[in-house]
Amino acid sequence: MAKKPQQAIVVSGMQPSGKMHVGNYVGAVRNWLRLQNEPDLRCFFFLADYHSLSGDYLPAEKRAQTMELALDLLALGLDPKKCTLFVQSHVPEHTELCWVFNTVTPVAFLERMTQYKDKSAQQEKNVNMGIFDYPVLQAADILAYKGAFVPVGRDQVQHVELTRDIGRFFNNKFGATFPETKPLLTDTPKLRSLTEPLRKMSKSHGEKTYVAVDDGPEAIEEKLKRAVTETTGILSMTEEELEHAMANVDAKGGDDKLKGMAGVWNLLTMLRIFGSPEEADRVMAGQPIKYGELKKLVALRVAEHFAVFRANKRKLAADPERVRAILADGAKKARAVAKKTMEEVRRKIGVR
Ligand code: TRP
Repeated sequence: MAKKPQQAIVVSGMQPSGKMHVGNYVGAVRNWLRLQNEPDLRCFFFLADYHSLSGDYLPAEKRAQTMELALDLLALGLDPKKCTLFVQSHVPEHTELCWVFNTVTPVAFLERMTQYKDKSAQQEKNVNMGIFDYPVLQAADILAYKGAFVPVGRDQVQHVELTRDIGRFFNNKFGATFPETKPLLTDTPKLRSLTEPLRKMSKSHGEKTYVAVDDGPEAIEEKLKRAVTETTGILSMTEEELEHAMANVDAKGGDDKLKGMAGVWNLLTMLRIFGSPEEADRVMAGQPIKYGELKKLVALRVAEHFAVFRANKRKLAADPERVRAILADGAKKARAVAKKTMEEVRRKIGVR
């Protein structure tokens, strides 16, 4: 994977915590898989273990969660020949650059971050400096590789914009060093919670609320069976009605009717993605259809879609040494780049 001079740098990270669900796959991993195949991009993808320490966690679980995420990413198809895959804490330049960036970042900019405000409300008893400084470490993650493009979800755009600001502050003070980083937004739909479809799918509301990528066919069917839909039990609505309902959901939550429709939208969206757009169109055209039947069909398609993944993961899980070797090799490659950036930074800021 020699770096061609015209290759643009792509950087993204994911925190090891909880189980990976199909919403994470649709929102993030699927993009990573596409990007690694672009010959004019050089992709750095990492497991943001240091970031994840800012949440509440048990030390005994962290190592296993990191291994689990590595297994998931590799089994889903991230290919160490096509991208550099590594663990954040294996490349100390990230935290080193974070410190330098701390010294050019106005506190007021961090106080505006919505994720910081949300997280400090969520974990009132643990409002640590890590949640506050989180975006600065993220800027270091990206700029250690002089990342131009950062594939993220909408909730992370503010952090990528801050990365650009931090790069500018540094450049203004110490001379042109970092590129203008841009978020790479793809318009992938956000899958919703199975049991509370007014909210998006999340790992923090319990196992029943999401389909994990490694759930087997029975577990998927069982979870979807309990997924909230309309109480009528029968799908009978136009595409327009559904879209209209979803616009309202996103704007202001909603009542039970809206909740039911959001659940239906969720099923149809999974069918569109894991079956095909044509199959979802056929369901809409073939109404009325019982939700029970629709759920069975969606469960089948999700199970099929991740069948190869589940087999790959089982194989990889039997060989943790191989996974550790892949991550060690990734860290070595990443570090070679990050080290150069740090050498340049140290020279420019006057500590060398
Ligand atoms: N904050 C990101 C998230 O929660 C994860 C992350 C950490 C990241 N460092 C990054 C994403 C650098 C992109 C680039 O999703």
